[in-house]
Amino acid sequence: MTFWELLKNPKFKKKSVLEALIKEYTNQKREEIWLHLDDQIDSDVLIKILKGYGEYVDEKKPLEYILGHVDFFGYQFYVNQYTIIPRPETEYMIEAIDNFVKEQKKTDFDDFFILLDIGTGSGILGISSLLQNPDNFKVAFLSDISQEALDVAKINYNKLIEIDRYDISFLRSDLAAFVDDYPIIRQGRVILVANLPYIPDDTFDNNALENVQKWEPRLAFVWWDDGLNLYRIMFDQVKTYKNIIMFLEMMTWQVEILRQEFWDWMEFEEVKTFHFNIRIVKCWVK
Ligand SMILES: C[S@@+](CC[C@H](N)C(=O)[O-])C[C@H]1O[C@@H](n2cnc3c(N)ncnc32)[C@H](O)[C@@H]1O
Repeated sequence: MTFWELLKNPKFKKKSVLEALIKEYTNQKREEIWLHLDDQIDSDVLIKILKGYGEYVDEKKPLEYILGHVDFFGYQFYVNQYTIIPRPETEYMIEAIDNFVKEQKKTDFDDFFILLDIGTGSGILGISSLLQNPDNFKVAFLSDISQEALDVAKINYNKLIEIDRYDISFLRSDLAAFVDDYPIIRQGRVILVANLPYIPDDTFDNNALENVQKWEPRLAFVWWDDGLNLYRIMFDQVKTYKNIIMFLEMMTWQVEILRQEFWDWMEFEEVKTFHFNIRIVKCWVK
């Protein structure tokens, strides 16, 4: 069978998925595929393409898990079912951190920052922040409660960053419970980034797409009640650290709850709101 015969076959309605699978398994760019449409497809490649297509259509498996990678902020990250597929809004966290670092550098701060990525998952936030600001960080902590997720973060770190570039720790930890064990965190200027599970369980059950519910790790998205308890616990863990600036993602209505609850010792500032319901906030201990 040629590529053209495969692509024009009406049985395969999701042409963009087919094209992505062809690109992946033939290791070709899109334009190369279209220049060689009459080439025969190797049988082992065809088997992989058809298997991937079947998983996508019949099992509703997200394409990112079939391919094993996703693009985030211009970098390619490995993902598997222990890590969520990063959402486009989350990319703005990197821009927000970048703006903050550049602003600080312009004014009063000439040293390096320490980076904490809490609930790192595949490592997209921590690793992209380092890649975006290579000379402004020296020490970084990537942590998650899930060992499987941390293993994915390590693979991505090793793939994207030279081995000795940073003093890096991958920690299996409940949120920021580790901070008191590392004196450097108290001494330095620290940026903490976190996109913790914040979706209330009934909101997730009623609204999340079928393929998300079936394939992505529920415990990476969902918390009970108002969805905010992990953020509350993390604030408590870092409440004696006035040197930590946090960049967090949550729902718009949740920010007001936290602001009212923590008004006497924390400050919250809106960074960006998406589709009226997802908000990135910057916050710190007063
Ligand atoms: C929404 S995902 C975010 C992953 C990644 N940072 C991103 O933005 O795509 C939340 C992550 O928090 C982790 N997590 C959940 N509970 C945690 C806890 N108590 N302590 C640390 N990490 C936790 C999950 O395993 C998951 O990797």
